Amino acid sequence: MTDPQRTEADARPAAVLKGLGTYLPPRAVSNDELSERLDTSDEWIRTRTGIRQRFWADPGTATGDLAVEAGARALKSAGVDGVDAVVLATTTPDHPCPGTAPWVAARLGLGPVPAYDVAAVCAGFVYALASAAGLILTGVAERVLVIGAETYSGILDPADRNTAVIFGDGAGAVVLEAGRADEPGALLGFDLGSDGEQHDLIAIPGGGSRQRAASPYFTMQGKKVFAQAVTRMGQSSTALLERLGWPKSSVDRLVGHQANVRILHAVADLLDIDRERAVVNLDRVGNTSAASIPLALADAAGSGELRPGERVVLTAFGGGLAWGSTALVWPDVTPN
Ligand code: UT7
Repeated sequence: MTDPQRTEADARPAAVLKGLGTYLPPRAVSNDELSERLDTSDEWIRTRTGIRQRFWADPGTATGDLAVEAGARALKSAGVDGVDAVVLATTTPDHPCPGTAPWVAARLGLGPVPAYDVAAVCAGFVYALASAAGLILTGVAERVLVIGAETYSGILDPADRNTAVIFGDGAGAVVLEAGRADEPGALLGFDLGSDGEQHDLIAIPGGGSRQRAASPYFTMQGKKVFAQAVTRMGQSSTALLERLGWPKSSVDRLVGHQANVRILHAVADLLDIDRERAVVNLDRVGNTSAASIPLALADAAGSGELRPGERVVLTAFGGGLAWGSTALVWPDVTPN
């Protein structure tokens, strides 16, 4: 489908989205189930976050297992069986060392390709897209598998109602291929940023070289993070739209990191985009961190909410603090 607002400059090389695959572990965890062991309620979780359920992997299932499933489905969706590189965004790698991506590449039978993890927490998938686009634009790779995968269920403090009700497990993946910016699916630009002064708002204190023996559980200062999420995703999307010359009114779908429906609506309001144009699937899957954007894309594309030819802005925010946005005209891709 052609986009009437394209310019000749768009004939430049670009990384183009060709396939989309997702995987959720089988066990759905309802708000009511969590309310049985935590001082919370379905009503609080629904009204404060929009989340109705999330999926948690069984103990013994690792992030890499979910990543392999989503990766295989993305390759199938793209109609390819090989790539030149694998980039995996995750906060919950199988091990602190080595990276999870090489093992995922091996399990997918992709051969001795470059494969590495990206750690940008909930902004990880957009950072991984940018990294993969860089591999393509520098000629390192023609085709890259980009995966966002998480098993937060393993890092949540079961007694902490501030985090235990929010996060879910899952994986999503896309195939990017070398192409041109005037093709549907071309990633047309990126806006990325970070603020390490606020690194402590989202953290896993232990396990790293600074406080190796501290708590291994995920912590989040929800209220402060909420405000930062709205501001940063709003600013980042606005900066990207200005760079692309896309009027805000021309955006058909806003696919934001699925942390809280109130955040998604606030970002839409900042961008003067109808709230109905903000894709929401967190009600079904919760906050899946680096897997959030591809899971939301797949739900929207699968349901017909997101259609080929539509202008889409992806924007994400998370620990670091780190945030990022990219934009594309949605291609004719069937999620798998
Ligand atoms: O994915 C990375 C980025 N993450 C985000 O963007 C998350 C951003 N933050 C949020 O989405 C929200 O801040 C939360 C959903 C985490 C919390 O919602 P909130 O409206 O900011 O609640 P709050 O932390 O201000 O707490 C309000 C009240 C408090 O009680 P008091 O002090 O008013 O009596 C909390 O103790 O709600 C209480 N509360 C809960 N009550 C029932 C906090 N968590 C729960 C809970 N169930 N699960």
